[in-house]
Amino acid sequence: MAAPRSLFMCFVVLTAIVLPSCAQLVPDFYDQVCPQALPTIRTIVEQAIEREPRMGASLLRLHFHDCFVNGCDGSVLLDDTPDFIGEKTANPNNNSIRGFEVVDEIKAAVDSVCYGNVVSCADILAVAARDSVATLGGPSYQVLVGRRDSRTASRDDANNNIPAPFQDFQDLLSKFNQQGLSLEDLVVLSGGHTIGLARCFSFRDRIYNDTNIDSGFAGYLRTICPQSGGDDVTQPLDDTTADFDTVYFSKLLQTKGLLHSDQQLFKGDGSASDGLVRYYSNNPQAFWADFGVAMIKMGNIKPLTGTDGEIRMNCRKRN
Ligand code: HEM
Ligand SMILES: *[C@@H]1O[C@H](CO)[C@@H](O)[C@H](O)[C@H]1NC(C)=O
Ligand SMILES: *[C@@H]1O[C@H](CO)[C@@H](O)[C@H](O)[C@H]1NC(C)=O
Repeated sequence: MAAPRSLFMCFVVLTAIVLPSCAQLVPDFYDQVCPQALPTIRTIVEQAIEREPRMGASLLRLHFHDCFVNGCDGSVLLDDTPDFIGEKTANPNNNSIRGFEVVDEIKAAVDSVCYGNVVSCADILAVAARDSVATLGGPSYQVLVGRRDSRTASRDDANNNIPAPFQDFQDLLSKFNQQGLSLEDLVVLSGGHTIGLARCFSFRDRIYNDTNIDSGFAGYLRTICPQSGGDDVTQPLDDTTADFDTVYFSKLLQTKGLLHSDQQLFKGDGSASDGLVRYYSNNPQAFWADFGVAMIKMGNIKPLTGTDGEIRMNCRKRN
């Protein structure tokens, strides 16, 4: 019942006011209004990654941090102003999330090829995340679009909802469960750490205090990340930081996870999580397939659709 009725609603709104407007996300939302929208995003993502491979990781993470805070609605992109507190200075984001200039570049390019303000900032994040993963050698799943942008943001919700690298397994799982995501989603999506970097601030406690860490690995990291100071010194999340491969999972089997939260997924206790880490470490095809499915699920967290929210003219500001 639900699917046919939504499609019918899309059709009615389409013929009535010409702009597409659906109650649910679909793959072909921009096909009629701006067929060049998605190829344009892809081109700019590829150029940005060519300039700096890390940018793919940064764009993937932006979509995650957007979706976990009241849905995938572009809230993470809003700048703080004297009378507006956004999410950029929340603890998980402050001095950490990046890629905003590339999002601005994409927005300008899609406005140009679409002859106007047609593509939402929330959709730009979802598509750029998919294209980043594909460009770095990962899966290219069919991304769903049709999101609209929020007029609100919440620093408190960013602090409360985004998982922290210091958390233990049960807390990580409950953050995912709160978003309607499962244990399987937690493990496979954490595989996003196959690309990108983390700051000393994020792994200091682990390398000085954790016991489930390879001693050579910890010793080496201590030479890079001092016990105090050097918060912003970065280290790859796995050894092949620009390849969307399964090395992240293999390293967990060797207790060489960089973040405390990474190693929580493999504790050598025979848990279901251990089993999934072992499985993905040996099955790149399964990792890629399941990652794509889980990304679509994450991208479906509480999107604004229809006439809710707005299509922002500038991703950093409400209209
Ligand atoms: C399981 C809970 C998670 C925790 C606790 C976590 C935590 C972190 C932390 C602490 C960093 C480094 C930030 C810094 O030091 O500045 C990071 C980086 C990153 N995270 Fe996660 N993360 C989680 C899940 C995810 C998910 C689900 C994705 C995407 C699917 C993801 C994608 C990334 C990427 C790509 C980077 C590197 C970003 C860059 O280099 O700019 N993470 N994460
Ligand atoms: C964000 O980081 C800056 C620079 O380290 C710091 O001055 C500021 O207090 C932080 N903001 C919040 C809200 O924690
Ligand atoms: C490690 O644990 C000790 C004792 O709980 C704590 O004082 C310290 O801040 C922790 N972190 C580091 C980096 O040593």
